[in-house]
This record gives sequence, C-alpha cells and structure tokens, in this order.
Amino acid sequence: SLCYLNGDYLRLCDAKVSVLDRGFIFGDGVYEVVPVYGQRLFRLRQHLVRLERSLAKLRIPNPHTEAEWLERMRRLIADHAQRFGAPDQLLYLQVTRGVAMRDHVMPTGLTPTVFMMTSPLKPPSPEQRHHGVACVTARDFRWERGDIKSISLLGNVLARQISADQGAVETILFRNGYLTEGSSSNVWIVHEGAVLGPPKSEHVLEGIRYELIAELCEELGIGFNLRPITETEVNVADEIILSSATKEVLPVTRLDGEPVGHGAGRGKPGPVYARLYEAYQ
Ligand code: PDD
Repeated sequence: SLCYLNGDYLRLCDAKVSVLDRGFIFGDGVYEVVPVYGQRLFRLRQHLVRLERSLAKLRIPNPHTEAEWLERMRRLIADHAQRFGAPDQLLYLQVTRGVAMRDHVMPTGLTPTVFMMTSPLKPPSPEQRHHGVACVTARDFRWERGDIKSISLLGNVLARQISADQGAVETILFRNGYLTEGSSSNVWIVHEGAVLGPPKSEHVLEGIRYELIAELCEELGIGFNLRPITETEVNVADEIILSSATKEVLPVTRLDGEPVGHGAGRGKPGPVYARLYEAYQ
C-alpha cells in the first residue's frame, strides 16, 4: 500500500531515508499510532495535541498544520481502503529531527523527516476478549521520560520480550514498587468497583485512552481515580485492564501465572471490563 514520506506518496518498498537521518542514528524523533474505524481517524485531535507536546519537548518544529496532517492522512487511508477494501486501519506516523552529520547537539534549521503508513487494524481476537490475556511483571528499567512518545523504544522492546518469551501478551512494569504502565499499553486496576490508574508523570506515556476511559467511567457511573498504585495492589486487584490504540481495552486474567481476581470471577474477564468494552465499542 502507499505510504507518505516528505511530501511524496510512494509504495512502502520505494520509501527511503538517509542513513544520516537522526531517527536512524539517535532515535531522535517521535511517533503516533492512530486507529481508523470505517475510514475515520479515532480521536485524531487528541493524537495531534500529544504529537505537538512530544515535538515541543524535543524542540522539533511541527512540520504541518492540523489541516495539512489531516489531508495527508485521508489520502493514505482512502488509498488503503480502495486497495484492500478494509475500512479499519492503523495509521502510524513518525517525525524525526531530520538529516545532519552526526553530533549529539541538536542542530537547528533542519527539515524534519515525516513518514506515515497504514496497515490493517488487528484488534484483539474474540478468544482474547472472552478468556482475557496473560501478562508478566518486571521492573521498569526504561528511562525517566516515558511521557515523550519517542521512537527510541529499546527499553520498551526489551521489556516486551520478557513477556513474549513466556508466551504472554504484555509486560507490566513497576518502578520503585509502583505501577507505571505496560511495554506498549497503559494499565488499569479495578478496586472496590472503581477504575484506578497511575498518575500522569514523566514515567508514564499518557495514552489517548486516559481521557477516554475517564469519560467512559463518568458515563457509566463507575468511579475513576488516578493515584500511585503499589505492586501489591495490582497483585490482589479485582480486575486488571490494558489499554492502547490497538488493544482498545483488554482484560488481564493471568498475572505471572496466577489467576487475577477473586471468588467466582477468578481468572475471568471482570464486570467492569465488560461494561467499559461495550461502551468503548
Ligand atoms: N503504544 N504506554 C506506552 C509505552 C505505549 O507505547 C502506548 C501505545 C500506550 C497507550 O497509548 P495509546 O492509548 O495512546 O495507544 C501507553 C502504541 C500503540 C505502539 O507503540 O504501538
């Protein structure tokens, strides 16, 4: 399918960037992953606001206005839909600082490299929704600027592989005994009927679903609170829920091999998850 690179629409196999691109040399760039339902970009405005924030933190100028971003995205999405007859897609975009001789100091006046591609949206399977998924825990050994949606994802890749090696779908991370997030998702627990999430900080990527889940809880009359969550609280939680652009909301039913939850619901997706999922859809 077509991708977008610096003003051109190309086949993915024809898109090339310089070896001196700072994205390639330093991982010096940011990205967004936007779900597309029925050719409509879901929560695009929020993604563009987060992109703007990430770019500002790296002092990379935003290369496009909102209207320019939208026009380019729409063209890719329409092309993908026409080729594959698939209205649901995932749009990946990344902006790097640009091309320059290697130097740790940020060069000024560069033209940022802009890349976008679409792929078919692969939401969790009915099987995963029905039974929930297994996760493992690990120490959060990533850097302390998880608030930036950086393309430097080595820490996240290493973290994710811990669960992949054990046949689990996500690694849930703890810093100094407190929940931060998953390797590529946010993590929520249900405690006394309310949804709890870690506070926004430099240790957590504020997922677009932070605001969305707060809104859904409000609509559904479910309590919602952001506060520090200990590892023990996660281990004894009534429910554990992952969220991301691709996972939407997804129930965790095994943590480090142990069933999640209590009583008859032990090891099964919980009632709060079920309500959130329905509202999300
Ligand atoms: N990951 N935390 C991390 C570290 C993430 O990488 C992601 C998303 C999230 C959830 O954010 P959102 O709700 O905006 O998707 C939290 C994307 C999907 C990825 O890297 O593919």
